Amino acid sequence: MLYRFSIEAFPLSKETEESLAGLTSHREFSRCKVAVHVGGLPRAAKHYVDNPSPQVILVEDEGGPEEIQKGLESLAEVVEPGRKVIVIGGINDVQAYRRLISQGVSEYLVAPVSTEDIAAAIVGCMKDPGSTPRGRVISFIGARGGVGSSTLAANMAWTLVDLTQEPVIGIDLDLNFGTMALSLNLDPKQSVSEALTDSDRIDTVLVERFMVEHGPNLSVLSTTGSLKELTPPSPDAVERLIDICRTMATFVVIDIPHRWNTWVSNTLLQSDEVIVVASPDLANLRDAKQLFEWHKSRRGTATPKLVLSKADAAKRNQLSAKDFQDTLGVAPSLNIGFDATLFAQLANNGQMVGEGARNHKLNEQFRQFAFQLGARKGVATRAGKTPKFMSWLKRPKAS
Ligand SMILES: Nc1ncnc2c1ncn2[C@@H]1O[C@H](COP(=O)(O)OP(=O)(O)OP(=O)(O)O)[C@@H](O)[C@H]1O
Ligand SMILES: [Mg+2]
Repeated sequence: MLYRFSIEAFPLSKETEESLAGLTSHREFSRCKVAVHVGGLPRAAKHYVDNPSPQVILVEDEGGPEEIQKGLESLAEVVEPGRKVIVIGGINDVQAYRRLISQGVSEYLVAPVSTEDIAAAIVGCMKDPGSTPRGRVISFIGARGGVGSSTLAANMAWTLVDLTQEPVIGIDLDLNFGTMALSLNLDPKQSVSEALTDSDRIDTVLVERFMVEHGPNLSVLSTTGSLKELTPPSPDAVERLIDICRTMATFVVIDIPHRWNTWVSNTLLQSDEVIVVASPDLANLRDAKQLFEWHKSRRGTATPKLVLSKADAAKRNQLSAKDFQDTLGVAPSLNIGFDATLFAQLANNGQMVGEGARNHKLNEQFRQFAFQLGARKGVATRAGKTPKFMSWLKRPKAS
């Protein structure tokens, strides 16, 4: 998930300043606005006299409990209501901690703090009781064209619903030639490409209008197929569509076409989970390697999952799962055999494996894979209650 918080920090020590500098290189915080002003709690109290308050304020203080208390009181007088305040201090004392929390400070961290400590504190305090649940975004991309990536994406969307009975939205981003609706025997009234023409217009009402339903829990944004020359969607529009969908469903399953451009790479970055689908040949291995290396440079340890598809079509001439593992450093999470008859029959009937071939061993493989993708009850969570910052003061900002 990419957070979009506005964060301002007022460190005192060099260590805290360095830990703060690491925050925006975390993928999840790459979209946050982070400003750092050296000078600690006293500087913060002065700063907000004539500056608007961000969503999260981090202040460092090296004084004792009374000093911190006084500093926070001055801060509370100038900070707009509803802002989250995280204090970094040198006092390692449970009583002082409890007092600050009871007064509405969102978190108290004992220095020295790491980037991870700061990141965890911010995420923790921004989980409001009223915040909307965030669905898990799972994207499928083929290392090459025609490998079976769309077939897998549609089947996983269906299987996630079948296992969890929770809402799932499938988004087919193959805007001209997408088959998600077709493969589920659905007939979209409007193509998802039309929803992407103006990012400012995208909201839940618009998304509902473009969706077609496959039972009570599976909704699909797709196309009937069209040769209309489309203006490429803006990365912002695609990102917004996904963000809206994740407030509406527990899982958002995205079929990304085998293409490379800014909105494709942006969507991969926005995803919680990326699945690279490859057939066992040399060109697939080369392009899977490129995708894995790109992910490593942009998403660090958030490695994609590898699925081998149409395996054993070429029998002895094909590459093995081990060849892929040796090159990519990742074993395939799923190995789908080549079965032209099965997939042709299902495609012609507009059925998923779990509908038309429930007893086929592939159905069980898909179910196991869905568990790896997070299939369980209650994935989207609402967080617990936190007191308001210095709520007992109840002083609005002086105007
Ligand atoms: N394991 C399989 N064995 C045999 N045929 C398969 C298998 N998986 C998918 N197919 C068939 O291969 C064809 C291409 O599949 P699909 O559209 O899912 O691939 P894709 O990677 O999304 O391709 P594109 O690059 O066109 O988006 C379809 O006819 C599908 O039914
Ligand atoms: Mg496809």
